[in-house]
Amino acid sequence: MMTMTPVLQIRGLTRHYGGVQALTDADFSLAAGEHAAIVGDNGAGKSTFVRLITGVEQPGAGQIMLNGQPAHFASPLNAREQGIETVYQTLALAEDLDVPANIFLGREITRLNLGPLSVLNHQAMREQSAQMLATTGVRIQDMSETLRGMSGGQRQCVAIARAAGFAKKLIILDEPTAALGVQETARVEEIIRGLKARGVPLIIISHNLRQVFDLVDRIWVFRQGRIICSRLTRQTTPQEIVGLITGAIDPASLAAEEAVC
Ligand SMILES: Nc1ncnc2c1ncn2[C@@H]1O[C@H](COP(=O)(O)OP(=O)(O)OP(=O)(O)O)[C@@H](O)[C@H]1O
Ligand SMILES: [Mg+2]
Repeated sequence: MMTMTPVLQIRGLTRHYGGVQALTDADFSLAAGEHAAIVGDNGAGKSTFVRLITGVEQPGAGQIMLNGQPAHFASPLNAREQGIETVYQTLALAEDLDVPANIFLGREITRLNLGPLSVLNHQAMREQSAQMLATTGVRIQDMSETLRGMSGGQRQCVAIARAAGFAKKLIILDEPTAALGVQETARVEEIIRGLKARGVPLIIISHNLRQVFDLVDRIWVFRQGRIICSRLTRQTTPQEIVGLITGAIDPASLAAEEAVC
């Protein structure tokens, strides 16, 4: 049988903050086109994991392989350049800029490239932003409004549209719907289904098990700074996942089945 190279393969990823062991010896893998969820209690190490695989922070130890090649992300911008788009739990958008400026933040389109004296091509950025928002189904009435006047949900939609539009290899969403209403949550879930249809691999961190079971192929359980188990969604249940998150179920007891523990 042919085995496909994983999009992302991680071995032994480790990070501590002073005396706090935020992540220990984490192994993880994501197949081509796969959508995976990361679940676990508050403080389990989920966001730390994301920061380490997107260049926000450097791991203390461990190896990251992207499409079979050793990868190093010197900064978030560097990770973006290598095809990984991330929406962080704490949003990184500029309140005083409008939608197109936020979407093209750090990769502005220029008419004349003269370094700091470059002339920005505002029309191209407006048109492409409108297209990106349209393909993700996000509706923003006035694109020239700054983000300051938008709700948390609208801002989140801009961030997700931006990530979905630029992601070449992988998209990572850290609790994308935690602050959203019912309709906006449904909208974000539609965007995620669209990415699945387009074959864009995705990692979503979510505390919402209904959402996780609706959306992803595989669930990775984090507990106390370790990845304790991964389960194919169709081979597990919300009860089992809750048991793994809380420690009521020992992952070793599942090892006989197809779990990767
Ligand atoms: N910059 C930091 N300095 C010190 N400790 C940190 C730092 N960032 C995270 N930690 C600690 O590392 C551990 C893991 O935190 P992390 O943010 O990864 O958890 P999480 O699983 O994302 O939780 P949540 O579900 O609440 O977002 C926690 O004990 C946290 O207090
Ligand atoms: Mg977190």
